[in-house]
Amino acid sequence: MKLYQLVKNAGGPPQQEGKLRVLVTGANGQLGRVVTERLAAAGRTAIGLSRQELDITDAAAVRRAFERFRPHAVIHAAAYTAVDRAESEPDEAYRTNAYGTRHVALAAAAVRAKLVYVSTDYVFDGRSREPYDEFAPTAPLNVYGRSKLAGEMFVRELHRQAFIVRTSWVYGRHGGNFVKTMLRLGRERTAVDVVDDQTGSPTLADDLAACLLRLVDTDRYGLYHVSGAGSCTWREFAQAVFDLGFGAGKAEARPVTTAQFPRPARRPAYSVLDHRALRLNGFPPMRDWREALAEFIAKHGRELLDGEP
Ligand SMILES: NC(=O)c1ccc[n+]([C@@H]2O[C@H](COP(=O)([O-])OP(=O)(O)OC[C@H]3O[C@@H](n4cnc5c(N)ncnc54)[C@H](OP(=O)(O)O)[C@@H]3O)[C@@H](O)[C@H]2O)c1
Repeated sequence: MKLYQLVKNAGGPPQQEGKLRVLVTGANGQLGRVVTERLAAAGRTAIGLSRQELDITDAAAVRRAFERFRPHAVIHAAAYTAVDRAESEPDEAYRTNAYGTRHVALAAAAVRAKLVYVSTDYVFDGRSREPYDEFAPTAPLNVYGRSKLAGEMFVRELHRQAFIVRTSWVYGRHGGNFVKTMLRLGRERTAVDVVDDQTGSPTLADDLAACLLRLVDTDRYGLYHVSGAGSCTWREFAQAVFDLGFGAGKAEARPVTTAQFPRPARRPAYSVLDHRALRLNGFPPMRDWREALAEFIAKHGRELLDGEP
């Protein structure tokens, strides 16, 4: 039994009546693992299901899981996240991000579980030069973004007690991510080329998870943008990691353009999210991305360089 499988009496009556049961899809992913851990730490019953335990593309399996666990809420973090690969296998991206989300939304509505669907800044085309708020028009540039937006539409159509939470540039302790890669490269090299013409907001998975848990405790349903406050380019993000980090200190992040690093999927040049919905619904502001990064590297930099915890 793995760490994230925190409910061991599955199928039986809940161990503690009255304790909030929250089901997490994609619980072995970067965000799903942090969410599951935080739920357990907050005294909730966390039902973290990995892809092996619940494949969201299987409608009957999703329905059965919700009938069995009867969660009060679901944090839907499972997704097809291979942004470049999605360009050559769009059916797989839509199967998971659109129809998988439809299955989760229908099953959650059937047992009256609140739903939190995690979406992406890639629903925007990046032509703005001002942060995108929740009311800005969407125009995804790639298959991944379009498939996640299709997931948003299913959630809106099929579930009334739902939160759609768009986030960006997520990193944390688990799984592969930009910060881990830069910590390693910064140790191995004196200079690293990093794109300097895409601007966004790095988001610490723990900060995002904390916000998701705050949202789900309320009935202030709707669309939310949740990312680290402030913004930077990928190069500035990399340089901040080098400047903070654990023997990586002396590396230089050298600016290059997106055109110099062609990838199959187009990405928005600018995807900073404005947090209007958090502000207007009385939720605490997200902290600055630099502050979160500094704390993250101070706490976990050494263990990340030495290997996956
Ligand atoms: N990472 C970012 O920068 C970022 C930015 C914006 C939005 N998001 C969104 O944030 C959420 C969490 O992303 P993440 O960073 O945690 O990604 P991740 O590490 O790739 O986690 C996604 C998880 O979903 C699982 N999964 C894939 N297909 C599934 C299926 N059919 N049924 C059940 N589980 C399935 C994956 O399992 P396998 O590994 O076994 O395939 C993986 O464990 C996603 O909705 C993503 O779109 C992420």
